[in-house]
Amino acid sequence: MQVNSENLLEMTSIMPVVEIADVDCAVPLAEALKQGGIAILEVVLRTPASLEAISRIRQEVTGVIVGAGTVTSLDKFQAAVDAGSEFIVTPGLTPAIAQAGADSPLPVLPGISRASDIMLGQEYGYRAFKFFPAEASGGIPALKALAGPFGDVVFCPTGGIGLHNLADYLRLPSVACVGGSWLTPLDLQGQGDWQAITQRTEEAVAAARGATQEEGTGAI
Ligand code: 3PG
Repeated sequence: MQVNSENLLEMTSIMPVVEIADVDCAVPLAEALKQGGIAILEVVLRTPASLEAISRIRQEVTGVIVGAGTVTSLDKFQAAVDAGSEFIVTPGLTPAIAQAGADSPLPVLPGISRASDIMLGQEYGYRAFKFFPAEASGGIPALKALAGPFGDVVFCPTGGIGLHNLADYLRLPSVACVGGSWLTPLDLQGQGDWQAITQRTEEAVAAARGATQEEGTGAI
């Protein structure tokens, strides 16, 4: 399935937020997620290995969609595009990033944590946002409150999400997907424990499936 701005958050109920320190981990990590049932990942641009990791996953792993996260500047936006990213995620929203996303053929998921950021995004045509940092910004009560004035917007809450609370978030009608780093910790990557990452992924997929089936929405 081709990813585009309309369907990015419909492609998964869980968006792995992945920091990669060793580029040699990129391909086995993406394979481990795929094996566990998640065929999409956001590689955060927080390490020197991140751009090459995106390129390798793009070139060497079939059936997985790879995007770039922590895109905090226009330079990083361009570097992510050049590396082969299939979508872009930002932790916050500025007019410059909003415009770059509107001009780009790639899907862009901008980060917001308050009403005025959503309004800025809407001015540029966005209707799907990363809600970040989710737990620190009020979590589920904040999302319920934002659904009042912004009933046509969907969110991917990220920041403090894990197996313990992902289903509670996914039961909200405005939540299309949840994101988080708990599936792919650096210690498991360092140990090469891909089986543990697959197992975490399977557990998360099962929890998400339970929640979305209750809601009668979403796919994973
Ligand atoms: C992000 O960039 O989305 C966050 O660092 C992920 O937050 P988490 O580590 O709490 O999942």
